[in-house]
Amino acid sequence: MAREVDNHLASAAIYPIDVNYTIALKSIDGIHDDYRNKSFKLMQWSPKQNSSDFPTDYVSPTDLLIVKDSYELWALDLESHLQYIVDVVVNKGFLMADNMSEDTIADNVWLIANDKDNGVVGLVNCLRLEPGGDRIRCIFDCNHLFNQIDFNSKPFSQILSNDLAINVLRNGQLGTYRHLTLPKNYDKTLSNEYYLNIGQNRDISSLQWFDKRNMSDKIEGYNLDNKPVKYMKCNIYSSGINFRDVMFATGRITSGPLSLIIDCLIGFEFAGRLKETGERVCGFDMSRCFATSINAMNTMVSKIPDNWSMDDAVTILSTYSTVWYGLIERAILRQNEKVLIHSAAGGVGQAAVNICKYYNCDIFVTVGTEDKKKFLMNEYNIPENRIFSSRDIQFKYKIKSLTDGKGVDIVLNSLTGDKLEASYECVADCGRFVEIGKYDLQMNKQLGMFAFLRDISFIGVSVDQKLFLSEGYIQKWWQWMHENSNNGMIKPINRTVYKAEDVEKAFRYMTTGKHIGKIVIKIRDEEPKDTKVFNPSAFLSSTVKTYFDSNKSYIITGGLGGFGLELAHWMIALGARNLVLTSRYGVTSDYQKFVFKRIESLSDRFKTFGTNITVWTKSTESLENTKLLVKEANSLAPIAGIFHLSVVINDCLYSNHNIDEYIETIDSKTKTFVNLDQITRESAIDLDYFVVFSSVSCGKGNAGQSNYGFANSVCERICESRRRDGLHGLAIQWGPIGDVGVLADTDIVSPLAGIVKQRINSCLDILDKLLQTKHSIVSCIVRAKRQTQSGSRESRIVAQIWQALGIDPKTTPDHLTLGEIGMESMFAVELQQGLERDYDIKVSLNDIKNVTIRMVKEFEAGKTSELKLFTEELRDCRSKLSKIKF
Ligand SMILES: NC(=O)c1ccc[n+]([C@@H]2O[C@H](COP(=O)([O-])OP(=O)(O)OC[C@H]3O[C@@H](n4cnc5c(N)ncnc54)[C@H](OP(=O)(O)O)[C@@H]3O)[C@@H](O)[C@H]2O)c1
Repeated sequence: MAREVDNHLASAAIYPIDVNYTIALKSIDGIHDDYRNKSFKLMQWSPKQNSSDFPTDYVSPTDLLIVKDSYELWALDLESHLQYIVDVVVNKGFLMADNMSEDTIADNVWLIANDKDNGVVGLVNCLRLEPGGDRIRCIFDCNHLFNQIDFNSKPFSQILSNDLAINVLRNGQLGTYRHLTLPKNYDKTLSNEYYLNIGQNRDISSLQWFDKRNMSDKIEGYNLDNKPVKYMKCNIYSSGINFRDVMFATGRITSGPLSLIIDCLIGFEFAGRLKETGERVCGFDMSRCFATSINAMNTMVSKIPDNWSMDDAVTILSTYSTVWYGLIERAILRQNEKVLIHSAAGGVGQAAVNICKYYNCDIFVTVGTEDKKKFLMNEYNIPENRIFSSRDIQFKYKIKSLTDGKGVDIVLNSLTGDKLEASYECVADCGRFVEIGKYDLQMNKQLGMFAFLRDISFIGVSVDQKLFLSEGYIQKWWQWMHENSNNGMIKPINRTVYKAEDVEKAFRYMTTGKHIGKIVIKIRDEEPKDTKVFNPSAFLSSTVKTYFDSNKSYIITGGLGGFGLELAHWMIALGARNLVLTSRYGVTSDYQKFVFKRIESLSDRFKTFGTNITVWTKSTESLENTKLLVKEANSLAPIAGIFHLSVVINDCLYSNHNIDEYIETIDSKTKTFVNLDQITRESAIDLDYFVVFSSVSCGKGNAGQSNYGFANSVCERICESRRRDGLHGLAIQWGPIGDVGVLADTDIVSPLAGIVKQRINSCLDILDKLLQTKHSIVSCIVRAKRQTQSGSRESRIVAQIWQALGIDPKTTPDHLTLGEIGMESMFAVELQQGLERDYDIKVSLNDIKNVTIRMVKEFEAGKTSELKLFTEELRDCRSKLSKIKF
């Protein structure tokens, strides 16, 4: 019974995930998992023969799932059919609309297909949604094993009794086509070649390792300043977390234009070995240094001094280079000067303390906690009266008093807001204010110019910019580092080491502000001696990731269409540099010209994005012409991928169609794809990707698109047979796409109701993952309704709050606020974003700190109203206050 309901739903183009009704069943045992989701209530109900037992009290006819899967049923008045409904439920145990039709006696129409790449499945899916289509059935005998259909013998008798719309005979097996939900971890793979990046949500919980096996090795290229560079392959052993990484991971600083050209912006320093020689090296890169390996620019890499371990080296790179550049190179630090070092227990702070001690400076420091104060007193012998809190601006008065009102010669600042202003006031006449924090710079904070009358200097330090973009500077740094590696100036900094699998904990630890020194991510253990046999990195669950090879070429048919242009752009961002786009008419529209210009200007601005794009306008419907297309692509570089997008749509109900238009749609999709499959197989071209963009109209059906459904279905069969032959083949049944393409300016029509348009960025994000799956046909749709939030998400957020605060909620008084307990601003930012994103609760950073433990507990219990009320009250007060003139 359950299986029957299941089959009916599947064949009737119903998306069970979108149905919000109750199904009454005699037994719910054995019903498929797809129908057990929350929005689809299953009710076990065993009705007696008497129709008055129909449970109208709690299940009215409108609550029943009625599948009006053909036009004749649309006008049906369910109230008048109540008796009939009851009879059907009583007799059959379930109710489907086709049982209610007045005219169910008409004969079925059977379509028989017996060649392997036939599109009958997509055809029938569409035809069944057209008038009279509910009588259509098909038998798809893929291997052409049967010359005759005899419904009295197997397997045809079975087909008849199953009464399914689609019946497939393949390799002696009888089956049908169904959509199954991909497992949650469909985009995960076990890999020991990975790098760390931030996921979609741009918060710490979205940090994940990405598989980097598709990323091709670079030997030479250009840096972002268009200078030719050579790359060295390094295995990474240790990487250091910098505040900048955490700021990106929490979305606290925006990535700026760089994010348009680089898909990873975290990971700035590493230590490891050259793959070729095994030599121990350390280095910088613009990003992607939390990784198992890297192709590093040769200038950015240097030997590790013998007296340092790799973990030592990684504690020195960004910390000492920042202080070297800020204090020595820019502020020209002199012996015996007075220096204020903020957050002195951190990595940069300790590097500054070491360098200033070497220069015999008079050191003043700030710290955030008592532990850090003790640490500086014990480790660096800094007197207690020189250590102040970085949580308020009291240090300003104390420093002024300790320096007879003069202030200090240099402030090394990383504090923000009012503490930055207080620090600014601590600078003595003719002193230097060295800003190494990024937040206020990003926020374009304004500072008064008045202080410049005292001849002070404001020095903004962006050591990464300097090292990467200023010619010769990186060599200067390496020289300074080696000269001072053994004379007491540079001392490795204490660190907390986390394994790669605990990287999220490591980032969270940094947001608590409790850490002292550096936080290091250990990718693999260092071998005791020089070696070329490297310790392996651990196998970790990593997110699959697509990259394209800059030394290969890719064909996109219909590449000047809406999706095609976006695809081309996306492929370039992921490494593709040689593309052939096909089109019948070439670049004609203003939008196409604009996109080409954009790609050209990217190539002009950055040589590393230099891209060859050929627009191919010859027809590819004949085999000979398609051969020419393949030859053209091969002339740019060996072909590695084909993306088939070209299509001409002619929608019309089957009964009204004209044959030429019907065939035009089919040919536009099938001919080129068949040719490309044949040619690449015959020439044994090893393709990483052979992809067709199919449609949910093919997979689920759509009235008026039977030609389109048939064509896509042919392409899907080709993908299946390629997979069987060990070749790449992937058909993606897209739902309607917004922004660009054939449906961009249209409303979605009723047969596809239940799904909404997918944004093009989301399509590309999913494509990235689907390209790495092993399936031959996948479907991608966006459900119309958002699922309601379950309590678990709240509990998860709150569990993080307790963990970040380091408190036991049971023993903490309810009236205390998060601020009173000591919530760090980094975590407050994360919480603020989470509340806004998931619950539409907008609350300022300061107000987050006024949230009480009681409110958090209620939130945990799923009662979001308290928190909402609190924020609304705050907003109300503010608006009232703003109207009062003081
Ligand atoms: N957009 C959606 O909502 C959606 C949904 C599901 C599936 N899809 C699939 O995604 C693919 C791209 O869709 P789209 O929305 O980008 O469509 P589109 O904007 O109409 O692009 C298709 C392009 O194919 C080209 N074309 C047609 N016949 C050709 C031929 N013989 N040779 C070369 N090029 C030819 C056309 O360019 P010229 O006029 O310049 O020749 C057209 O621009 C299609 O295969 C479609 O089936 C799209």
